[in-house]
Amino acid sequence: MKLFLVLLFCVHCTIAGEYDKPCAARQIPGRSVVCVCNETYCDEVVRQPPAPGQYVIYTTSESGLRFNKTVGLFQKYRKGSLKCSTCIGLDPMTRFQRVEGFGGAVTDAAAINWKSLPDVLQKYLVKSYASEYGLEYNMLRVPIGGCDFSTHPYAYNELPVNDTRLTNFTLAPEDNIYKIPLIKSLMTAATAPIHVVGTTWSPPPWMKTNNNFSGFSRLRREFYQTYADYHLKFIEKYEAAGVPVWGITTTNEPINGVFNLAKFNTLGWDIENMGEWIVNNLGPTIRNSTYKDVKIFTGDDQRFTLPFWFNVLLREHPKALEYIYGIGVHFYADRITPASILSAVTISHPDKVILATEASEGSYPWQEKVELGSWTRAVSYITDIIEDMNHNVVGWIDWNMCLNTEGGPNWARNFVDSPIIVNATNKEFLKQPMFYAMGHVSKFVPRDSRRIKLTEHKSFLVSSVKSVAFLTPRSTIVLIMYNKGSARNVGIKCGKKQTLVRLEAKSITTMEFLSD
Ligand SMILES: *[C@@H]1O[C@H](CO)[C@@H](O)[C@H](O)[C@H]1NC(C)=O
Ligand SMILES: *[C@@H]1O[C@H](CO)[C@@H](O)[C@H](O)[C@H]1NC(C)=O
Ligand SMILES: *[C@@H]1O[C@H](CO)[C@@H](O)[C@H](O)[C@H]1NC(C)=O
Ligand SMILES: *[C@@H]1O[C@H](CO)[C@@H](O)[C@H](O)[C@H]1NC(C)=O
Ligand SMILES: *[C@@H]1O[C@H](CO)[C@@H](O)[C@H](O)[C@H]1NC(C)=O
Ligand SMILES: *[C@@H]1O[C@H](CO)[C@@H](O)[C@H](O)[C@H]1NC(C)=O
Ligand SMILES: *[C@@H]1O[C@H](CO)[C@@H](O)[C@H](O)[C@H]1NC(C)=O
Repeated sequence: MKLFLVLLFCVHCTIAGEYDKPCAARQIPGRSVVCVCNETYCDEVVRQPPAPGQYVIYTTSESGLRFNKTVGLFQKYRKGSLKCSTCIGLDPMTRFQRVEGFGGAVTDAAAINWKSLPDVLQKYLVKSYASEYGLEYNMLRVPIGGCDFSTHPYAYNELPVNDTRLTNFTLAPEDNIYKIPLIKSLMTAATAPIHVVGTTWSPPPWMKTNNNFSGFSRLRREFYQTYADYHLKFIEKYEAAGVPVWGITTTNEPINGVFNLAKFNTLGWDIENMGEWIVNNLGPTIRNSTYKDVKIFTGDDQRFTLPFWFNVLLREHPKALEYIYGIGVHFYADRITPASILSAVTISHPDKVILATEASEGSYPWQEKVELGSWTRAVSYITDIIEDMNHNVVGWIDWNMCLNTEGGPNWARNFVDSPIIVNATNKEFLKQPMFYAMGHVSKFVPRDSRRIKLTEHKSFLVSSVKSVAFLTPRSTIVLIMYNKGSARNVGIKCGKKQTLVRLEAKSITTMEFLSD
């Protein structure tokens, strides 16, 4: 009865979801708001399944709206008669890539910050990211051993040196005390199976030519097989601890160790050598193990490396294609690299996927590390996700799930920002605009959704609405829009359905309706 009334009388109204808990907003001067979670309160949002003829929209804006939920009914607008200076047409019959998922990284830093909170706040944080009351993340990236977001550099089996057979491979206290408990809590809270992707930054120094965690390095030839076994052992140990590993990458940002670009844990790889290692060592080791279905992603470096990395790899070692499931791309040079690079690869190799495996704001030397309440950073996230997805990327994994107020801990002082900032002394955590930017996609675009064709017609006077749309396994259409300018009406047309929706000024909007 209630729903019926809503359908009859509510053409476009707020239904301040009876299940939702609004943001406890703290205004940051000169910026947007952060939503404060403390021991007694944390905001929540529940997805409202759309009824026939209805659409549900969620809005997050610079002015402070956070997942503001409203429902409306489809209503014909006459062409040209209404203020539809922007019209978006959707074609669910023209389908593109299948979605794998969205998530963040369980680094040592993230897990240590999480664990520094009182129990109830640990639960709120997990719920905020994974549950039906939060972002419903379904992917996680986990460093194999340490990375810069650790309190010290380390790897497994550091001793004894030259231990080809890895006789002393055990997980670290960081795994047992921090990372695995966080991952398992997220798995329990999640609404879908969580796909965990493991990545090595640096193996133990004795496997490397420079016998160090950082600096110019290569893998020593006599340890090619050992480094492959190192990955398999990690998979075995995590599986035994109750965390199935879905995929691995072939080393984080391999060009860092070639050009000494980073002060933190790296391993340099020439493409030719990595191809050889994949074909002779890593590929056969994984495929011939109990964990033969673990997906192997290569690349795992900046977008601009992709065509070169992939083309040379295939020219030198075409057999690598048999082992590689896809390519990982990082976010940090996206603004200076055309996204067409991405779709070019998926068009030439339609059986391979591209996954965005790392992104964070505040990483450039001239940037403020933690910029509390930054709307600009939410915009950076949502526009990158929209651009990536429109170029056939199958998922987007954020970097540290939470950091402290300094943007750490990080042993190499390579601090950055995070969607959640933990203030343990104040017994609270702060959900930044970036958190909601992630959620506008992760919560509403489940695994196995398909991107669909979208066309925008607009008068040349107005800025483009950045948008991407999906057909979900729930038989709904999900349209995500970023409006950079002032508030405006946008015409939406999908088959016989048509309506005008209002986009708030400087806002991110997710719209969902039934597909038939
Ligand atoms: C949603 O936004 C409208 C105005 O845009 C406001 O009236 C309403 O209170 C908001 N709802 C919530 C739950 O914040
Ligand atoms: C927790 O947050 C709620 C909502 O903002 C507030 O009413 C309450 O006073 C806060 N509690 C503490 C201990 O700060
Ligand atoms: C095995 O590794 C531990 C650290 O995890 C180290 O303390 C111990 O000395 C190592 N054992 C040998 C035989 O090297
Ligand atoms: C480990 O191997 C390297 C390279 O062969 C050698 O220089 C070094 O002495 C070895 N270390 C030990 C303790 O055997
Ligand atoms: C490892 O390299 C760093 C610089 O990248 C240097 O400061 C440090 O002394 C090196 N450590 C060893 C054991 O060589
Ligand atoms: C796979 O394992 C079997 C038995 O352990 C071994 O005989 C075979 O050579 C392995 N194949 C590869 C490709 O490593
Ligand atoms: C964190 O909490 C401390 C102690 O209450 C407070 O002084 C500080 O301003 C807080 N930091 C942030 C970024 O909110």
